[in-house]
Amino acid sequence: MVSHVRTVAFQGVEAVPVDVQVMVAPGKMGMQIVGLADKAVAESRERVQAALHASGLSMPPKKVTVNLAPADLPKEGSHYDLPIALGLMAALGAVPSDALAGYVVLGELSLDGTVAAVNGVLPAAIGANAMERGLICPHACGAEAAWAGADIDILAPRSLIALANHFRGSQVMSRPEPALYPPPSTVPDLADIRGQEAAKRTLEVAAAGGHNLLMVGPPGAGKSMLAQRLPSILPPLSPRELLEVSMIASIAGELADGKLSDRRPFRAPHHSASMAAIVGGGLKARPGEASLSHHGVLFLDELPEFSPQVLDSLRQPLETAECVIARANHRVSYPARIQLVAAMNPCRCGMAGEPGHRCRRGPRCVTDYQARISGPLLDRIDLRIDVPAVSAGDLIGGAGRAETSAAVAERVAIARQKQQAATRRMACRRGPRMHPVPQHLSKTSFLSMPIARP
Ligand SMILES: Nc1ncnc2c1ncn2[C@@H]1O[C@H](COP(=O)(O)OP(=O)(O)O)[C@@H](O)[C@H]1O
Ligand SMILES: [Mg+2]
Repeated sequence: MVSHVRTVAFQGVEAVPVDVQVMVAPGKMGMQIVGLADKAVAESRERVQAALHASGLSMPPKKVTVNLAPADLPKEGSHYDLPIALGLMAALGAVPSDALAGYVVLGELSLDGTVAAVNGVLPAAIGANAMERGLICPHACGAEAAWAGADIDILAPRSLIALANHFRGSQVMSRPEPALYPPPSTVPDLADIRGQEAAKRTLEVAAAGGHNLLMVGPPGAGKSMLAQRLPSILPPLSPRELLEVSMIASIAGELADGKLSDRRPFRAPHHSASMAAIVGGGLKARPGEASLSHHGVLFLDELPEFSPQVLDSLRQPLETAECVIARANHRVSYPARIQLVAAMNPCRCGMAGEPGHRCRRGPRCVTDYQARISGPLLDRIDLRIDVPAVSAGDLIGGAGRAETSAAVAERVAIARQKQQAATRRMACRRGPRMHPVPQHLSKTSFLSMPIARP
């Protein structure tokens, strides 16, 4: 007899259905997993056997074959443990197989039978909702899954035994509640910056219009300080943006405690970052820093110190708002609608243009340094400003007079509301669907769902 359990494989932030088929048949005792599984999935055999043993179920003295269909879709990650274990339990009659029919299942098993957290629970829950199924996921990820919708049936067991007891009716599991991170109590505030009125005004304009910004100035002028204060004047994420951003964070395993945050991402990778770290890639085609700053800020400090190839790899995401990772056997794309903020010194020694200073290497100190940034990348940066060193007078005398981030954020929010109203008016005049829904979202139906904020 073959039992079926539904799980998912991830292609970007899209959850693709995978059917886990488990067959127990007479033959040499053992367990085999087929269906283009990577090493983590192949190792799930040992975890499943140990977890079943720890839960009081012994492996049958028969041949167990597990097939992950469709067999030509690559399967990566450890979240196949739980569906394989449940498929096996259903084949052995330890859980009723019809009880599993309405669920998408994902979770990793520990050797003692507890269900450990996995990445990608939020996109899986949204995918399950689109398939009109419930979700069985690890307890630690339940709060994250609950964001997929108010109606979706979610079971978040701590262990295999708790789940078996739930199906037997001897222990009822309650539905997890969606959780939002409280706003941080201290964020860097614009009021800390003395002087630099022109730079602060430019930062406000960049925040209001979502413009890319480059700040050029000598070391210690306060460029990094200004950039770090940009998130404090940006409006919070809208519910739809919140889900988009959190789906990417979930795939990357960056959602701590399953809680979501409505603050815009601010990512500041070090200049030694590789191309895969910035635009995504690596062994599992993970999202890169550009995608992790979706709907937020990607801050590249000391811009010319980044490798020129890495900087040029950002040209495509800046243009198309997505990072495409092409592999021999598949192609993955992650959304990356970013606001690029960069800071740099004017030359290698950092002091070009300062009154009374002459670079030792002459004008080449400036030209060689600035030539590290290509013209096409500079073309995509709308605002470029000089940030001169702040004068001693401003530093000493400016205390207490600077405007706070809260006051600037109010003006930014008003500007953005006006822009949105104008865009809506334009869209009405041109007719419906002038702004198509991105492909990966149009396949899931959650956009039409009201999101209940906790
Ligand atoms: N305008 C300013 N107001 C207050 N402190 C400043 C200002 N500019 C620089 N500083 C001080 O100098 C330090 C270095 O600034 P930083 O932002 O790192 O400079 P940069 O990135 O331009 O080299 C800051 O941590 C801050 O203490
Ligand atoms: Mg700096």
